[in-house]
Amino acid sequence: MFDFEFHNPTHIVFGRDRLGRIDRLVPADARVLVTCGGGSAVRSGLISRVKEALGRRFVREFGGIEPNPQFDTLMKAVAEVRAHAIDFLLAVGGGSVIDGTKFVALAAHFEGDPATLLGQRNVTSAMVPRVLPLGTVLTLPAAGSEMNSGAVISRGRDKLPVLSSLTFPRFSILDPSLTFSLPARQVANGIVDAFVHTTEQYLTYPVGAILQDRMAEAILATLIEIGRKSIDRPDDYDIRAQHVWTATMALNGIIGVGVPQDWATHMIAHELTALFGIDHGQSLAIVLPSLLSVRRQQKIAKLVQYADRVWGIREGTDLEKADAAIASTRAFFESLDVPTRLSAYGIGADRIPEVLDQLQAHGMVALGEHRDITPEVAAEILQRAL
Ligand code: NZQ
Ligand code: ZN
Repeated sequence: MFDFEFHNPTHIVFGRDRLGRIDRLVPADARVLVTCGGGSAVRSGLISRVKEALGRRFVREFGGIEPNPQFDTLMKAVAEVRAHAIDFLLAVGGGSVIDGTKFVALAAHFEGDPATLLGQRNVTSAMVPRVLPLGTVLTLPAAGSEMNSGAVISRGRDKLPVLSSLTFPRFSILDPSLTFSLPARQVANGIVDAFVHTTEQYLTYPVGAILQDRMAEAILATLIEIGRKSIDRPDDYDIRAQHVWTATMALNGIIGVGVPQDWATHMIAHELTALFGIDHGQSLAIVLPSLLSVRRQQKIAKLVQYADRVWGIREGTDLEKADAAIASTRAFFESLDVPTRLSAYGIGADRIPEVLDQLQAHGMVALGEHRDITPEVAAEILQRAL
């Protein structure tokens, strides 16, 4: 196990009808900007309930943060913050709204060009002396942004990480009933996203992190157990509660401590989303099975463990077990009605060079836990995903 430091300050409030806790968690004298997406939180009446919970505080509302949050939209929110001396942000939505709000928190009082924050993997207080505090009300279990300090921001054809220990939410309200209105496609996307967050931190190579492995395997097994049920029974509180908490635990840092991490699937998948508008979860379902297949030799030890402990596959040679586990992974995504082939999204071999160009342009030329997934290897992965 590698040495590590772990810090996660986010206060989690989990359960039904917990919006009243906002009054205790947001400073009484705060000037609050409530942020949301394209309309679901407004239509459901959730924004009104959040504003009611904020009582007599000064509140402004900013809607329109799109899936794969766009820099230009977020800069309009920054203008609102500056115009009304906002000092607290409250994101109501899924990963896009929460990520976008984290960017606003960084950009609001940043004296440089906020565009220079895009792609930064460690924004420090030296770079951004004043970062606004934020809280979240989660409406889509997927990204895990409600309990981490990461964000992914889009600008034109670029979809880039913005990472900073300064953007952990102060608190997040996780009420499974707020996710009941999700369409099946978004529920499925969330299961796939949480699954791949876990494999990025688990399907690498052994370092004797027995507990982290067992925790990752528990998350994977839970997602397999409840994935289809969460789609088929959208208002089953108990099932959806597992989905919400599993997605949060998949990317709040706890299973990633002291272990190697891959993240090549995400970096390649982000380019598919930026270029072709594929949902984040869908892009991951395309890349992961093919990446595991191309890298099965390098990952063989963990793939055999994954086959045994998650899929119960114990017969055959190591390579046969690995291939069977990869096939089970692909079949699981397909069982959620998330296609795993580029062709299912109308993307042919002729578009692969564009993806490679974007990887080059973004410096994504040495990906994976061994930093050896080059654009040439990425090309092989995408070819195998056709
Ligand atoms: O915009 P509205 O109207 O709210 O509709 C949204 C959106 O169209 C809808 N939705 C959300 N909650 C709903 C709902 N519809 C009905 N009822 C509800 N309760 O769902 C659509 C997708 O929302 P979005 O927030 O984009 O989805 P998700 O939560 O999957 O977030 C995806 C974003 O998270 C980023 C991705 O890159 C992507 O931009 N990620 C963030 C990470 C992080 N911060 O750690 C890591 C992840 O790997 C991921 O990259
Ligand atoms: Zn993800």
